[in-house]
Amino acid sequence: MKTEPIIILSTRELDKMRHVGRLAAKLLQHLEPLVKPGVSTLQLNDEAERWTQAHGAKSAPLGYKGYPKSICTSVNEVVCHGIPNAKQILKEGDIINIDVTLIVEGYHGDTSKTFFVGTPSPKARKLVDVTEKCRSLGIAEVKPGARIGDIGAAIQEYAEAQGFSVVRDFVGHGISNVFHTTPDIPHYGTRGRGKRLRPGMVFTIEPMINEGTWEVEVLSDGWTALTRDRLLSAQCEHTLAVTEDGVEILTLPEGETFF
Ligand code: MF3
Ligand code: CO
Ligand code: CO
Repeated sequence: MKTEPIIILSTRELDKMRHVGRLAAKLLQHLEPLVKPGVSTLQLNDEAERWTQAHGAKSAPLGYKGYPKSICTSVNEVVCHGIPNAKQILKEGDIINIDVTLIVEGYHGDTSKTFFVGTPSPKARKLVDVTEKCRSLGIAEVKPGARIGDIGAAIQEYAEAQGFSVVRDFVGHGISNVFHTTPDIPHYGTRGRGKRLRPGMVFTIEPMINEGTWEVEVLSDGWTALTRDRLLSAQCEHTLAVTEDGVEILTLPEGETFF
């Protein structure tokens, strides 16, 4: 368990987080049209790395705790941390989460989205819609004085009411000039529990929502996490800051609004 105090970012640091967050959102938008049947997950990785370097940024995952690639590509039953691979070719009907984290001037922007390859099945569409709604409901809880448990409770209530489950083994996290720090942000929990949010805190909300069981299994590569029942899993992620009167989404794509 991480026990360090929760960092409050300065105005100058928040500016850097805004800048790198916006760039990470732009990278996801750049990759979206490449998601098509016949494309390998390694091709997506290599284009992400090329684009990242061309924009003067660094890929945070590459070499992080030994992670071998620049992005995570989690297809169908893979919950998170799928490793891009030349032999993994996307096919019609797949869902794929692409998770990117960039570093600019030492600060991190972390965001992900689940894309459809061609036309999704009705159950895949519902899972992805519910997952995006879960993230929005979690973000809507963020304001000074709210508690971390309020975020997870909002997400869990909605996911379970829709017949899905919430992954426990991976959580959102504090992020700034380090990739993963305090606080942990569980996507399940109890209202009124946990630390209070304060202006200047920065963390991710990144619910992983499963069609069946919430239990996961990690492959012998040490990274790839998949559902124990091999049913579908979806995820989406934003990096956000607590403001004086609510929340600012740092990885919101240009032209999108939240409230
Ligand atoms: N981007 C992931 C997250 O949301 C972390 C990936 S760590 C890696 O926290 F090493 F797998 F890349
Ligand atoms: Co994250
Ligand atoms: Co991420």
